[in-house]
Amino acid sequence: MRSFSFTGLLCLVSIAPFLRVLAAPPKACAPKVKESVIPPRGWTQHGIPSPDHTIVLRIALPQPDFNLLEKHLYEVSDPSHARYGDHLSKEEVERLVAPHQDSIDAVDEWLRSYNIDSNDVHRSAAKDWVTVKIPVSLAEKMLDTTYHVWEHSDGDQIVRTTSYSLPENLHAHIDLVQPTTMFGRFKGLKSTIVWPDEAEAPPQLKTLVGTVNTASGAIVDASCNTTITIKCLQQLYNAVGFTPKILKNSIGITGYLEQFANIQDLQSFYAEQRPDALNSSFKFISVKGGLNDQNLSLAGAEANLDVQFAFGLSFPIPGTFWSTAGRPPFKPDVGTPTNTNEPYTDWLDFVLSHPSPPLSISTSYGDDEQTVPKSFAIRACASFAQLGVRGVSLMFSSGDGGVGDNNPNPATQQCFTNDGRNATRFIPLFPASCPFVTSVGGTVGVPEVAVSRFFSGGGFSDYFERPWYQEKAVKKHLSTLPKGTYKGLYNPKGRGIPDVAAQGDRFRIFLSGVPRMIGGTSASSPTFAGIVALLNDVRLSKKLPPLGFLNPLLYSVDSSAFNDITVGHNSGCGTTGFNATRGWDPVTGLGTPNFGILAKLVVQKGH
Ligand SMILES: *[C@@H]1O[C@H](CO)[C@@H](O)[C@H](O)[C@H]1NC(C)=O
Ligand SMILES: *[C@@H]1O[C@H](CO)[C@@H](O)[C@H](O)[C@H]1NC(C)=O
Ligand SMILES: *[C@@H]1O[C@H](CO)[C@@H](O)[C@H](O)[C@H]1NC(C)=O
Ligand SMILES: *[C@@H]1O[C@H](CO)[C@@H](O)[C@H](O)[C@H]1NC(C)=O
Ligand SMILES: *[C@@H]1O[C@H](CO)[C@@H](O)[C@H](O)[C@H]1NC(C)=O
Repeated sequence: MRSFSFTGLLCLVSIAPFLRVLAAPPKACAPKVKESVIPPRGWTQHGIPSPDHTIVLRIALPQPDFNLLEKHLYEVSDPSHARYGDHLSKEEVERLVAPHQDSIDAVDEWLRSYNIDSNDVHRSAAKDWVTVKIPVSLAEKMLDTTYHVWEHSDGDQIVRTTSYSLPENLHAHIDLVQPTTMFGRFKGLKSTIVWPDEAEAPPQLKTLVGTVNTASGAIVDASCNTTITIKCLQQLYNAVGFTPKILKNSIGITGYLEQFANIQDLQSFYAEQRPDALNSSFKFISVKGGLNDQNLSLAGAEANLDVQFAFGLSFPIPGTFWSTAGRPPFKPDVGTPTNTNEPYTDWLDFVLSHPSPPLSISTSYGDDEQTVPKSFAIRACASFAQLGVRGVSLMFSSGDGGVGDNNPNPATQQCFTNDGRNATRFIPLFPASCPFVTSVGGTVGVPEVAVSRFFSGGGFSDYFERPWYQEKAVKKHLSTLPKGTYKGLYNPKGRGIPDVAAQGDRFRIFLSGVPRMIGGTSASSPTFAGIVALLNDVRLSKKLPPLGFLNPLLYSVDSSAFNDITVGHNSGCGTTGFNATRGWDPVTGLGTPNFGILAKLVVQKGH
């Protein structure tokens, strides 16, 4: 048990001099290292930030009742449980993640001891996050550390430190403080465009004559073998002719890193692939001043891909596109003070404070799990659980580097641990490795096989243990591996990635006015999110609650609900990676969705 009897008050000897007469400063007030990391490969110290450089410090207070929240999450997400679909309200969730009052008091005292005005302190609704905007020089004093400008070999710069300390008595009251040791950058997971040169871009959507039958019996246009359109996905995933009816439904796409979703491009896309959606658009929501610049030449490949396919597939379900400001790759010379924000938590903050977030949300960003401090990964993952228990389904791309790091280029892929040992190791991606999200791998072609122009991210988390819902499926796969396979290269007890898959290559989008082909598990995640939005329509139209956190359902439904992908593998780290096999595998998960069958199952199982 943690003791909450020490509060920050004991450390305020410097502003209460009479106490000094009574006793020397208690040992509990001495700074003690809270967290230290080895900077991930590729980062080097570049210089020191200007002392008046502003930093937005986020302080996470412990959530003593999180276990209870997790219990609720699993009960309301498990179709065999009596509480299936009985999601919690925003207020109920906030009560479950609220910190202990002693922690709130201790942190407040600590901030006050540095003369931080309570007006400059921002608190999340549950009071589990405290945010203060302060000069880096003050952060250095508070955390007994030195910040540096760090530069990545690809040119990105951020202001970080490799270690920070807190007074010993505060260790029990603070889970983490960031940005400090967080080197992860949450890059977009789109792979290179197939035809990067405009001259080579496919001029017209080719309609190859004829159709082909897939193993699952679906009839698919032959052209889908080389070009993926909305119609191809409807055919492949057995959703032809389905029109959503319930407009109280919703789907959301997250955008970061100044990725703008262009509305003119969306109209061009709709004109070609979804004429009935023409003139419709999405709701744009700016988070922390994020923009959605409509200059056609600034359209983002990632954002355009995500909105065109997610909203095209789920039309007319209302779509939301969030653009969150702040790039973690910070250029100190630009001098925008808020740029040290880690935008990911800004989005989480924002969406958790909303009374009714979109019900199906796709994110095509991520980074190597080991570049994200474990404490941060656990807290972010806990935030995803908060959305899931409120009835929101979260999809994340599983990555494009196979079993290797977030780098689809095998020549430059790095597969070494960042723990000082520099051991060869497969590198899973976060947030795909969080057990409270649905991670989506990639397939290609007709019939579908695991994608191979780049490789579907997959493997096993080094941070998160295997959750109960995938115990049977993952163990079965592990038992088929020849004894000793990849021993020491992965954590066989870790959360298996991905959960499911969807087409991930040769997507035909419009970008800056011209059709382009693009791929990556960045395409797979919004595709799956689109199918989930359609499934929510099926449930809502029967007056059933939305699906919420999906995984316990996905792993328990009949295997006919998925097109099992059994061909291909996910090379990486100089190996051929894992194989796509019958049943779940760490390449394509359970397989790609069969909407027609899932639509029947999701109304049978609920109540
Ligand atoms: C799709 O393309 C693959 C690879 O080029 C080929 O092997 C396969 O036969 C094609 N499928 C159909 C149905 O034409
Ligand atoms: C879109 O708007 C144009 C111009 O106002 C109109 O001609 C067209 O019929 C509209 N299309 C749809 C599908 O609403
Ligand atoms: C659009 O962006 C391009 C590239 O940054 C720029 O050259 C152009 O002036 C912009 N157009 C407008 C209308 O702002
Ligand atoms: C880690 O090991 C690899 C392979 O032996 C080597 O190329 C690399 O330089 C090492 N990196 C560090 C930081 O020691
Ligand atoms: C994948 O399949 C190939 C060919 O059957 C086999 O040689 C290899 O051992 C398998 N790899 C794993 C990790 O199971």
